[in-house]
Amino acid sequence: MEVVIVPDAKAGGELVADAMAQLLRRKPDALLGVATGSTPLPVYQALAAQVCSGAVDTSRARVAQLDEYVGLPADHPESYRSVLRREVLEPLGIAPASFMGPDGTAEDVQAACDAYDRQLGEAGGVDLQLLGIGTDGHIGFNEPCSSLVSRTRIKTLTEQTRKDNARFFDGDVEQVPHHVITQGIGTILEARHLVLLATGAGKADAVAATVEGPVAAVCPASALQMHPHATVVVDEAAAAKLEHADYFRYTFAHKPDWQGI
Ligand code: GLP
Repeated sequence: MEVVIVPDAKAGGELVADAMAQLLRRKPDALLGVATGSTPLPVYQALAAQVCSGAVDTSRARVAQLDEYVGLPADHPESYRSVLRREVLEPLGIAPASFMGPDGTAEDVQAACDAYDRQLGEAGGVDLQLLGIGTDGHIGFNEPCSSLVSRTRIKTLTEQTRKDNARFFDGDVEQVPHHVITQGIGTILEARHLVLLATGAGKADAVAATVEGPVAAVCPASALQMHPHATVVVDEAAAAKLEHADYFRYTFAHKPDWQGI
């Protein structure tokens, strides 16, 4: 995997937005896999600025959701479908018809998960999947000890993740659903390019385990080590526990300009 250390969250957002813009120039109907949480926001803001300036055309772009709470109505402000409409589709000018995601309100949750996996395959697969990381190393909502070959399915959140996400529910952990649908780790690994973005000191341990630890289900993000094109973009604070930080800086500084991430 490639590790890129950037000065701050804004620079990380710009780097990833540039990669998405380059992809859209090469493939205007690319399927972008998007993540929720605070970390990806600078990416969406930087890409929206490029759309506004006319540097990139998103009119044919397609967007796929990574995960969803079970039981929140689709129009609940914190359902990930609503969050992505607000933070991604509207600012990037992408039509709701170009969006795909699992149905968190389905009566038969597993059937909804299977249908979503099929839909992703029929759409030709995700071209670039943006990922955040949980403080426990989760990607999507694949909590520690998730199968590394898992498909989209229902998961139970750890108490830590519910506490971490309570800030989106008026700080009230009781309002955070216990159950979620998430693309499985095996599903995520099918995307052509994985880009994991992590910022802030709170992610430093998870980043070190992801990049320099063993491939192990206890740190779901470590599965990225098995992907032929995975890029981990971290700010200085999130990179603080990487033993090979100097090597990562050296390789990126000497990369040919044309190569991109
Ligand atoms: C949630 C999402 C993840 C995200 C994580 C980290 O659990 N399901 O996809 O990576 O939060 O969020 P943040 O970027 O806000 O730290």
